[in-house]
Amino acid sequence: MTFAASTINVETHRLPFEAQHDGRFKGQSILSISQFNLDDLGYVFDVAEEFRLMVKRVGSLNLLRGYILANLFYEPSTRTSSSFLAAMQRLGGTAIPINEVRYSSVSKGESLPDTIRTLEAYADVIVLRHPEVGSAALAAQYARKPIINAGDGIGEHPTQALLDLFTILQERGGISGLTVTMLGDLKYGRTVHSLAKLLSLFDVQINYVSPEILRMPADLVSQLAAKGTRQAEYTDLREVLGATDILYVTRIQKERFTDPAEYDSVKDSYVITPEIMAQARPNMVLMHPLPRVGEISMDVDSDPRAAYFRQMEYGVYVRMALLALVLGKA
Ligand code: ASP
Ligand code: CP
Repeated sequence: MTFAASTINVETHRLPFEAQHDGRFKGQSILSISQFNLDDLGYVFDVAEEFRLMVKRVGSLNLLRGYILANLFYEPSTRTSSSFLAAMQRLGGTAIPINEVRYSSVSKGESLPDTIRTLEAYADVIVLRHPEVGSAALAAQYARKPIINAGDGIGEHPTQALLDLFTILQERGGISGLTVTMLGDLKYGRTVHSLAKLLSLFDVQINYVSPEILRMPADLVSQLAAKGTRQAEYTDLREVLGATDILYVTRIQKERFTDPAEYDSVKDSYVITPEIMAQARPNMVLMHPLPRVGEISMDVDSDPRAAYFRQMEYGVYVRMALLALVLGKA
C-alpha cells in the first residue's frame, strides 16, 4: 500500500511541511515526543488520516497480516491498551495482551529486561506502560524490536500527545496562533508533559493552570522557554478561560501521591460545568486524555465543544499509523 504525500491536506492543516515518505520509522522505538519534528508529524498524520478514511470505508485491512503485537501493561489502562489492540486488529495483525502483569511471570520477580527479551521472541513490536520514568528507554536498550512507550510513570505519554495534536488539527484545522490552556495536575500528568513539548514546535501560547503544588515541572518550562515558547502559569482558570482556544483538562493523578491528605487538598480543585463553558469561546475545543473522575461534569458531554470522546477515537488511527510505520509497512 502506498500513501500519497497529499493525503493530509497540508493547506487545511496549515502545518509547514511536505511529508516525505521514506520509511524513517521502520524498526524505530517511540520513546519520547522529542523524537518528532514537524516533518515527522506530517508523515504520521498523513498515514493516520488515510487509515481513518479506510476504516470508515472498509473497516479493516490486511497490511499487518502475520505480524504480532505484544501489549505489556504494568499499570491500568482502558484506552491505550484497547486502542493498540484495535489498531493491530484493524490492520490485520494479532496481539498478545498482557494487561495484568500480576498473572505473568513479573509476579515471580522477572525483571523488565527479561520480560522484554521474552516477548520480543514472540512478537514484532512491544507496547509498554510502566510506572517508572525511563522504563521504555530501558526496555529499548534490551530489545531488537521496536518499543512504543504507552506511558512511563510521570514521564511521558508520546502516543497520547500525537493523538492530541491530531485531534486539534481535526477540530480546528490548524495549530498556529492558538492559545492552549492545560488544567489540573501538571506535575504528575504525563500527557501534558508530552503535549507541551510537542506544542513547542508551533507558534502557540501555552497557559498552565494548576494548584500551586501541581505546577508544570520547572525544568520542562525552562526547556520550552529556551526554545522561545510563550508560557504563563496561573491557579485560577477564570484568568485565561476567555482567551483559550483549546482547554486540555487533566485528572489529578491520585496514584502518584504519597500523602493521601495532600491528594484530598487538591482533588476537587477544578470542575468544568455548563456554567464555565458558557464563559468560554464559542469555538473552544474541550479535551481530556481520560479517564475523568469528576473534573468535567457529565452535563458538558452534549456540548459540541466537548471533543474528548472524538479525541479517544482519533487515537486508534494514530496508533494504526505508528504500528504500520515502525513495522515498515506504510
Ligand atoms: N490515561 C492517561 C495516562 O495514562 C491520563 C490519566 O490517567 O489521567 O496518563
Ligand atoms: N488516555 C489514556 O492513556 O487512557 P488509559 O489510561 O485508559 O489508557
